[in-house]
Amino acid sequence: TGLVTYDPGYGNTGSVKSEITFIDGENGILRYRGYPIEQLCERSDFIETSYLLIYGDLPTREQLDSFRESITYHTLLREDMKPFFDAFPRDAHPMAILSAGTSAMSTFYQNQQDPTEPWDVEVSTYRLMAKLPTVAAFAYKRSIGQPYIYPRNDLKFAANFLHMMFAVPAEPYEVDPDLARALTELLILHAEHEQNCSTSTVRLVGSSQANMFASVSAGINALWGPLHGGANQRVVEMLKGIRDADGDTSDFIQRAKDPDDPFRLMGFGHRVYKNYDPRARIIKDTADRVIRKLAGSDPLFEIAQELEETALNDDYFVERRLYPNVDFYSGLIYRAMGLPIDMYPVLFALGRLPGWIAQWREMNADPDNRIGRPRQIYTGHPEREYRGIEERT
Ligand code: CMC
Repeated sequence: TGLVTYDPGYGNTGSVKSEITFIDGENGILRYRGYPIEQLCERSDFIETSYLLIYGDLPTREQLDSFRESITYHTLLREDMKPFFDAFPRDAHPMAILSAGTSAMSTFYQNQQDPTEPWDVEVSTYRLMAKLPTVAAFAYKRSIGQPYIYPRNDLKFAANFLHMMFAVPAEPYEVDPDLARALTELLILHAEHEQNCSTSTVRLVGSSQANMFASVSAGINALWGPLHGGANQRVVEMLKGIRDADGDTSDFIQRAKDPDDPFRLMGFGHRVYKNYDPRARIIKDTADRVIRKLAGSDPLFEIAQELEETALNDDYFVERRLYPNVDFYSGLIYRAMGLPIDMYPVLFALGRLPGWIAQWREMNADPDNRIGRPRQIYTGHPEREYRGIEERT
């Protein structure tokens, strides 16, 4: 094991060279392809940002129109896929359906998913970007027993998703442009974050030359965990727990600090940011705006702000440089929009999709790419002699 470096959680291992995302964790800076996240959030939309991430530059008008058209062309699912949704239990977690649906998608396009064929890579990109929102919305409709709403290609990405989620066949439904804008901002802010757990998973699976559907499906499963994309769901569950315990945050802060208690303050802390997560800063403002508009107020938002203030003034959090992360306020926006709590990680997955695709493609095109295969430090027994069962005590 002489040459193997022990690095649990890969905290200090640069496993790839990448041109996609720059993070300065000390100063709380995030840029996609050199563009500050704040500018993209204010001026771009999700498909344009996806183009930037995947192809490396902001598109010209023509490039953007063509990319948009290639995606909308593929938004429908094969009708043969519809019975899949009916087969899941009503209360299935939609992240399970999303990853199963993404994996299942590959069964329909078996002749167009060869990682060594440029056109296959291109069309898999369109299909994933186009169909994932449809799978996500169908999973939700299934869970509430409503008819599936088909995509509307005249609507932009976020508006189409809201329509598939909230329209019902018997009623007119107008997408609220402020909601579509807020969702667009959230999608942009989640779009890419270099070698996080799910993205590394996508790369690791893809490094074996598995197809893009299989790789992204694995990424969705990695994202599902409460320490990663599942944290937004856990934050709101935690805030509800505080509300139901009469709104007293101090008990929860105390528990988060106790080394013998596995409880953590969800939505706090980050491997790379040792400063305020720049995404959380924007999301907090958006949460304020959306909650004000849709609900007037939300006691959970008040609790979250109090929790943040208490933590940021507490030595434990200050010493460890634990700040709110992207998941701390995002769930409250989804809640105000009327999304059920188990859909929050699904929204994270839809946002992260262009990042996964961009990273998969960068890896696939990299001449240095070889199969991902970490080493280990063996700590088990030295050689032992096999003993028959009657000789064992
Ligand atoms: N609450 C209480 N203590 C914490 C927290 C927290 N949320 N996060 C870290 N700590 C403590 C931890 O106990 C450790 O203390 P000590 O040095 O005394 O043992 C110290 O801070 C360092 O933590 P770590 O576990 O070594 O840090 P990590 O880089 O391995 O973990 C993390 C990063 C995000 C998994 C962790 O901060 C965490 O569990 N946060 C809560 C879950 C969460 O919000 N996840 C979303 C992350 S951001 C978006 C995403 O990736 O999806």
